[in-house]
Amino acid sequence: MFKKKFLAAVLGTAMVASLLTGCGASSDTATSESKETVTEAQVETEASEEASSDEAATTEGSGKKVGIAMPTKSLERWNRDGSYLEEQFKSKGFEVSVTYSDNKIDQQVKDIEGLIADDVDLLVIAAIDGESLTQVLAEAKEENIPVISYDRLIMNTDAVSYYVSFDNYTVGKLQGEFVRDQLDLDNAEGPYNIEFTAGDPADNNAGFFFDGAYDALKSYIDDGKLVVVSGQTSFDQVATKAWDTATAMTRFQNILGSNYSDGTQLDVALCSNDSTALGVTQAIETDYAGTNSVIITGQDGDEANLANIVDGKQTMTVYKAVANEAVATLDLGVAILNGETPDASLIDNSGWDFECAYDTASYDNGTGIIPSYLLVPTVVTKDNIQKELVDTGYYTMDEDGYPHPTN
Ligand code: BGC
Repeated sequence: MFKKKFLAAVLGTAMVASLLTGCGASSDTATSESKETVTEAQVETEASEEASSDEAATTEGSGKKVGIAMPTKSLERWNRDGSYLEEQFKSKGFEVSVTYSDNKIDQQVKDIEGLIADDVDLLVIAAIDGESLTQVLAEAKEENIPVISYDRLIMNTDAVSYYVSFDNYTVGKLQGEFVRDQLDLDNAEGPYNIEFTAGDPADNNAGFFFDGAYDALKSYIDDGKLVVVSGQTSFDQVATKAWDTATAMTRFQNILGSNYSDGTQLDVALCSNDSTALGVTQAIETDYAGTNSVIITGQDGDEANLANIVDGKQTMTVYKAVANEAVATLDLGVAILNGETPDASLIDNSGWDFECAYDTASYDNGTGIIPSYLLVPTVVTKDNIQKELVDTGYYTMDEDGYPHPTN
């Protein structure tokens, strides 16, 4: 129900959205924050005209403002999140301001201060550093602005009302189980060699992803069927600051140089997401002597990674339909602004056509449990790209033979 209606709206503004991405990416490689803001403002004017002429722009948000703080445009998915969230809130008549903070913590604090000064009624925030927003969100609380922690849990603040994300532990678990099944670990003799690459320690999600994957494989590591040749098995050892592709590549080149240059075979590179998988894939291409095809995992469905999956260079990605994450965030935001105290019933009442769990146990941000709406991720491989990504309308398969996001 949602997908067709919503994607039609998104496709209608696809040119605007791709302009937005294009500007950020091509006009200046060092995407400055001010440039991002200006670009966003231009888009917003156009989109706002569109929304006001749209019949769907009716009641719920009329006269209300939402401030959306995204981490950066340099990691692909946040561009999609920003656009989807903007479309969703505009479709209900909200005034929308979106900021991207160039992965700079101070900049994100300033951006959120700006949104508060702009009298927003609701804040939706994907934090760069989950630990750094305590002070600015105390200001939000003083102004009675509800805060939805989007995708990444914001820590150490009682200003956060709710958390909307995917089941982050399950993302990692799916990666680990995929490796188990590919290698048939319950039956094969092994041993097989594996290396882990995880995400940014400042991102609360990163530990969940790593734990989910590691827990799924731990028994095989313990009984020697899987061997981590580098010995790097703790999250701290395998983490990647800022989820940065080049950082992941350099670390992996070192691992290959120190542990695999004698002809030792690498069987699996378990990477928590696509930006790190991209760096690891590059390192394997340039610095791995073996000729076997290494199983490489990822997460997100970034364009370059999907191309690698089509070309057989990456084996899988865990796809999270962020379009649906935006829908859940909108309905939650509207309920909060209507003075309701949303709980599990929001899921039924909203009639979403995607799976979502209401969780009041898993996410403690240091001030207590934050009630969470957790969507369900999907494994994508070369075999089901068409079904999961193209047939659902999230991507189009272009003449070049590769999937490209419709938003
Ligand atoms: C998101 C992932 C993403 C990573 C880097 C995480 O918080 O959940 O989808 O790959 O950040 O952008």
